Amino acid sequence: MPKRSKSSQRWLDRQRKDYFARSAREKGHGSRAHYKLEELDRRFRLLRGNMVVLELGAAPGGWTLYLEQKVAKVIAVDPLPVAAGAGTVVLEGRLGEAQLDKELVQLLKGLAADARKRPLDLVLSDMAPNISGIRTADQARSMELVEMTTEMAFEWLKPGATMLVKVFQGEGVDAWLAGVRKSFAKVSLVKPRASRSESREVYAVATGFRP
Ligand SMILES: C[S@@+](CC[C@H](N)C(=O)[O-])C[C@H]1O[C@@H](n2cnc3c(N)ncnc32)[C@H](O)[C@@H]1O
Repeated sequence: MPKRSKSSQRWLDRQRKDYFARSAREKGHGSRAHYKLEELDRRFRLLRGNMVVLELGAAPGGWTLYLEQKVAKVIAVDPLPVAAGAGTVVLEGRLGEAQLDKELVQLLKGLAADARKRPLDLVLSDMAPNISGIRTADQARSMELVEMTTEMAFEWLKPGATMLVKVFQGEGVDAWLAGVRKSFAKVSLVKPRASRSESREVYAVATGFRP
């Protein structure tokens, strides 16, 4: 295949971005984020009708809308407003903040059929830190979010369940992956087509949890 010049690659990238953004607007999907989850769901068969799902970093609600159509129960967490249906439990706050963590643990304990059982079929995180522009600091903050998601997954996922988490490629990812690989049967790193090519974001899909 002939090599593309940088400007024609940029043009192609812009067209693709426009396509996902326009299509999301026209079809009422909320945002381009919808297409990332849709692609991951198709590829890994993530979602089933009887599932209980914890969604971290849910605002403005593109993924929430998609999840609500596919699973039994969604618990959505974000400090910003989430456009969610009546059946979804929205917890307003930041994972890692004492009050939010307390509410979330109470809710999850209430969902477990008995105290020894784990309630979640899937933990998803699309959380992203506010970007300061200082690359090492931003990377450290994004890894904190990834680690918090992993702790939630380790504590609350059922055996055999799945974690999907947004990761910014950089410092700390390899060590984190090595840890996660010990507790899941398979871990894949994927860049969905709707993800901006200039962004370092990828999604880790970890299946077959072994508590
Ligand atoms: C890329 S957006 C999520 C987009 C969402 N998946 C959608 O489809 O609309 C990232 C979100 O992560 C949230 N976030 C960042 N840190 C968080 C934290 N500690 N706890 C919960 N949400 C957090 C931000 O407020 C932001 O709304």
